[in-house]
Amino acid sequence: MEPNLIPVPRAVVPRPGVLTLGRDTALTAPDGHAAAFLRALLRRATGFPLAPATPASTTVVELRLDGPASLGREGYLLDVTESGVVLTGHTDEGLFRGAQTLRQLLPPEIESPAPVEAAWTLPHGTVEDAPRYAWRGVMLDVARHFFDVSAVKRFIDRVVPYKFNVLHLHLSDDQGWRLAIDGYPRLTSHGAATAVGGPPGGFFTQEDFKEIVEYAAARYLTVVPEIDVPGHTQAAMASYPHLSTQEAPELYEGVEVGFSELAIHRDATYAFLDEVFGQVAALTPGAYLHLGGDEALSTTAEDYATFMSRTLPLVGKHGKTVVAWQEAASAPELPPGVHLQYWRPTTEEVPEALHKAVGEGAKLIMSPADRAYLDQKYSEDAPLGLVWAGTVGVRQSYEWDPEALVPGAEVVGVEAPLWSETLRTPDDLDHMLLPRLPGLADVAWSAAPRDWPAHARRLRAHTARWDAAGITAYHRSPELAE
Ligand code: ACM
Repeated sequence: MEPNLIPVPRAVVPRPGVLTLGRDTALTAPDGHAAAFLRALLRRATGFPLAPATPASTTVVELRLDGPASLGREGYLLDVTESGVVLTGHTDEGLFRGAQTLRQLLPPEIESPAPVEAAWTLPHGTVEDAPRYAWRGVMLDVARHFFDVSAVKRFIDRVVPYKFNVLHLHLSDDQGWRLAIDGYPRLTSHGAATAVGGPPGGFFTQEDFKEIVEYAAARYLTVVPEIDVPGHTQAAMASYPHLSTQEAPELYEGVEVGFSELAIHRDATYAFLDEVFGQVAALTPGAYLHLGGDEALSTTAEDYATFMSRTLPLVGKHGKTVVAWQEAASAPELPPGVHLQYWRPTTEEVPEALHKAVGEGAKLIMSPADRAYLDQKYSEDAPLGLVWAGTVGVRQSYEWDPEALVPGAEVVGVEAPLWSETLRTPDDLDHMLLPRLPGLADVAWSAAPRDWPAHARRLRAHTARWDAAGITAYHRSPELAE
């Protein structure tokens, strides 16, 4: 069997021989996202009709939902024989993840956006698979530079083959507010006008946001919206000065952090957050709402505690579980189930407050900047990215253990944030994602030990997939040279 699967499955048993899909290949599947996705993908590149099987069908791709419960929500079994493919899950989500494996077993041309001639072979063998972590996220910062619905869909398309299941959207920051909120029109008429380095900004209408949520949901990605407070709030305060203690808050187009702060001691601040969280929660079917909480460097420890005591319950009030950056560990009372997102580099001491929060039941999402931050430069001479956490090469982002940093913590998963201070175009996003993203997918999904030479070999094979997909901007990393 083709060995270049990323993430690496739990068990692969190759057998000699290949199955070749053809014009008469049938696809039989229960209705669901997995069938719709796989049929569209296979039709797009092959041009084959992939109609449901009839007694005359010789080659059948069959998706089945009768897998054992032990497969879990995302596990699957894949069997490729001379007569066809049987993909078995316990849920449609499991079939969807398995469809990504099936996709990677086909030749690179399967990524072609239009029909092409190719030998559509699949190696005989079986795959049995399930993820290590339940949270396998990517984050896109649409605040520092705005990325519109089509750019976000393209970003989603990049992460789907690697079995990510969380899309965290960083929707507000000093440089822009990016989601329309009824009753607060200046957030978008004024607060969305800017971006790093100056306009244009941009924003999502609530309809746009729903379109993203639906596109993500059809690919089993849960959207986690982030409204970052109490710092990173200059755009909101410039739109509604009563949220600020600054005399006349103005829009901001720079890249400094830590200067903005909501008015902590004003009831209007919490009325605003209640309304915003309520609307964001109503737009988002997923269980989580991220309230930021990072780099509130202008806020005293006492004020930060006061702010969190009033704000954390607002998320629960609207039926969501709190996600927050690791600084929120210092809040006096964390709500049950809280997910703290660890982002400081692995070279730093783990803060005492974080140890304490973990001891009291906080769960961790691991995004240490020197490993998982996709906005950091590949190397000193790289054209895009920041270097505050050092350079983050392909190997460095792959070769780490999410369990090592905070021993004893309940790690729910891994997330790869893509901040956009230096990124303006969808090609810029591609450049930072590829080839680091697949390695982070492997860290998040695969319990197999990291094996850099093997991973580098797989990545070299995947570049042919990106070429076939028409992705031109991926980073040609010297780390992948043979
Ligand atoms: C962060 O990078 N400020 C979470």
